[in-house]
Amino acid sequence: MINALRGMKDILPPQNEKFEYFIKNASKIAKNYGFEYVETPILEETNLFKRSVGESSDIVGKEMYEFVDKGGNSVCLRPEGTAGVVRSFIQNKYDRAGGVKRFFYHGPMFRYERPQKGRLREFHQFGVECFGESSPYEDVNIILMLKDILDFFGIKYTLKINTLGCEKCLPPFRENLVDFLTDIEEGLCDDCKRRIKTNPIRVFDCKNENCQKLLQNAPRLGSELCDECKESFEFVKSKLDNLGVEYEVDSNLVRGLDYYTKTAFEFVSKDIGAQNAVAGGGRYDRLVEFLGGRATPGIGFAIGIERLLDLIEIEDDKKEGYYLGAMDENALDLVFEIANKKRKKEKVAVSYGTKSLKAHLKTADKNGMRYCAVIGENELKEGKIWVKDLVEKKENLIDIDKFKE
Ligand code: HAM
Repeated sequence: MINALRGMKDILPPQNEKFEYFIKNASKIAKNYGFEYVETPILEETNLFKRSVGESSDIVGKEMYEFVDKGGNSVCLRPEGTAGVVRSFIQNKYDRAGGVKRFFYHGPMFRYERPQKGRLREFHQFGVECFGESSPYEDVNIILMLKDILDFFGIKYTLKINTLGCEKCLPPFRENLVDFLTDIEEGLCDDCKRRIKTNPIRVFDCKNENCQKLLQNAPRLGSELCDECKESFEFVKSKLDNLGVEYEVDSNLVRGLDYYTKTAFEFVSKDIGAQNAVAGGGRYDRLVEFLGGRATPGIGFAIGIERLLDLIEIEDDKKEGYYLGAMDENALDLVFEIANKKRKKEKVAVSYGTKSLKAHLKTADKNGMRYCAVIGENELKEGKIWVKDLVEKKENLIDIDKFKE
């Protein structure tokens, strides 16, 4: 027997319906916020992720599905969606056109992580990216949109925000931090020792208790901001306050990707286990330029769809369509004909085996159909079909000709 690869899952009933329900409604909300659907390739040049997500990140350093294709190119299954959308934005010259462009997308992402509950090697994200808007109003907007999506599905969360500074204030802060880390290097874990040279702010993300203890007196992100970053972060916080959106400022929130600047955020849930981030995002004002485009600010987020599926409830009134079945061999042809006519307008499920009425009703219910319509020997003689509304629990004998219409 051949099984799916470790950390990769089929999306089967009943999760499949929740999956579609999520995409449909999250897309609707994104469109209400002025975002347009975009589809980018799953396979990209490896360098795209090295240069955006960053070589020092775990994603690029340890988790990429990277290989050489038949043409000798180093390619990679995308570990996240932002880099591809930025590449497309530049390649299609939207950076040259100027103005604001907003995209949303959904699809599979691949990270060679150690699988556990909520952590897969193939998982699906719903993401958005906004280009060309540097106003912190957009930061608030993006957070509100994400909140609207999670609220729509009744998901409970805590919003954590932080600011990572910009190209003016981050380098001096980083230098101070490196000085501090060099003094305590002895006691740090191997990963953090490495981070001092590659990306020191990632030490705040370290799960090692000893490292966290040693970092208690470290200079804090957000404590040495330039005026512009300070103003922008204060603006975001005060707008969220005015709107009654609850949040926590978490100065340890650094995100696992290197492209962020200024506002960064995560929505975490306590109902899904250790992998508790349902969504994350932030600003990446340097990324377009860094990937060779004309300098354009950007901000976005991505939701991990699998992490939400267990939290989404679909109400029972979603039952719809007709289940058609025969209780007599001679009625099969008629059932086949009616089904083909009816499904031009409605959802129809058919069974081509003859079975008892009880068995037909059970199958109709199991398939989430609203009506169970059956033809037996008597109905066939009288030119009628027996129909039961499985929600209202009412039954009727209807003329077949009328029913077909
Ligand atoms: P990220 O935080 O790496 O950000 O991923 C976003 C979400 O994807 C996470 O919060 C989590 O729900 C889900 N996720 C990540 N890894 C896994 C996994 N191995 N298994 C299941 N779910 C997972 C990004 O990917 C950025 N591109 C977000 C962004 C867009 N920032 C700006 N624009």
